[in-house]
Amino acid sequence: MEKLIVTPINFLDGVVTILDQTKLPIEIVYLEMKTVEDVYVAIKELKVRGAPAIGIAGAYGLFIIARNSITKTPKELIYEVKEIGEYLISSRPTAVNLEWAIRRIISRIDILIEKVDEIKRESIINFILNEAQMIHKEDEVTCYRIGEYGATLLEGVDSVLTHCNAGSIATSKYGTALSPIYYLHDRGKKIHVYADETRPLLQGARLTAWELMEAGVEVTLITDSMAGFVMANKGIGAVIVGADRIASNGDVANKIGTYGVAILAKEHGIPFYVAAPFSTFDLTLEDGNGIPIEERSGDEVTVIGGRRFAPLGVDVFNPAFDMTPCKYITAIITEKGIIRPPFRKNIRKLFEF
Ligand code: MRU
Repeated sequence: MEKLIVTPINFLDGVVTILDQTKLPIEIVYLEMKTVEDVYVAIKELKVRGAPAIGIAGAYGLFIIARNSITKTPKELIYEVKEIGEYLISSRPTAVNLEWAIRRIISRIDILIEKVDEIKRESIINFILNEAQMIHKEDEVTCYRIGEYGATLLEGVDSVLTHCNAGSIATSKYGTALSPIYYLHDRGKKIHVYADETRPLLQGARLTAWELMEAGVEVTLITDSMAGFVMANKGIGAVIVGADRIASNGDVANKIGTYGVAILAKEHGIPFYVAAPFSTFDLTLEDGNGIPIEERSGDEVTVIGGRRFAPLGVDVFNPAFDMTPCKYITAIITEKGIIRPPFRKNIRKLFEF
């Protein structure tokens, strides 16, 4: 991890930049976010992606709305931030972290409305920036803790399998699913990672394989259809993935394909771990059936690298996420500890703690 210096979102001298992850691993390109539209498009087009990272981007998006606002009074400024903040939330529906980060800031500026006559515009803008930086920094600590807790589950494990990218570039730093791997790697314990390529957008091939190689972690890339064979033959000691939204009963939405990987893990008697921060839990949902699943353009399935290989006009179904029922999950690794079944009871217990 020490070797990996690429960070997905930066704030320096008043400028917000994001790493354009659609260009990886070919090019490392940073884009300056000047307007809220820039942030909306960056999230929608997966230039910034991964649940915690889009939460952080959304938080800086509120700062950009406030800074660019031409409203006359502090009260109007706050109303504008709230209104356009809702628009930003609509950029991607499944990962609750985006909504969580934006609502956290909005609920705090709502308190300012009561004192708005004494407050200058500049203080509101600085307040929002401060909140966004806090969310950014907190996520780093959170991911580090997930690494510490997750590492305790990987004792005696030499190889793991992961799906999609829940690594450093999907968060502020360290990642969620990959954080325990980096934690152990930095302490001299070598763990071999099998990375599913993750069709259709290839986050596993383009991003997970790239960031693990950059960090010096041994990684083998496989296609999604190889996961069962690899579990049967390659001594996989654990499967570890991230999450986009976790319901009260422990059902998990994550990248499309996760559900199948979880069933395969169960069949092979391999523990299936989900690593995610508290900001990924949605306790308003009884179970995973209420999780909104984003559907994306069929072109993502029919076209690879600009080349169409399916018949023109073919009907395509392209859900970006799926829902893994909690019965397939061995444990959920959070920044506050490891949650085991029964999930509904134990999730509630950890949240109340
Ligand atoms: O569509 P993406 O690339 O944003 O999907 C990302 C995932 O599904 C990740 O596993 C999840 O967001 C956790 S990232 C720490």
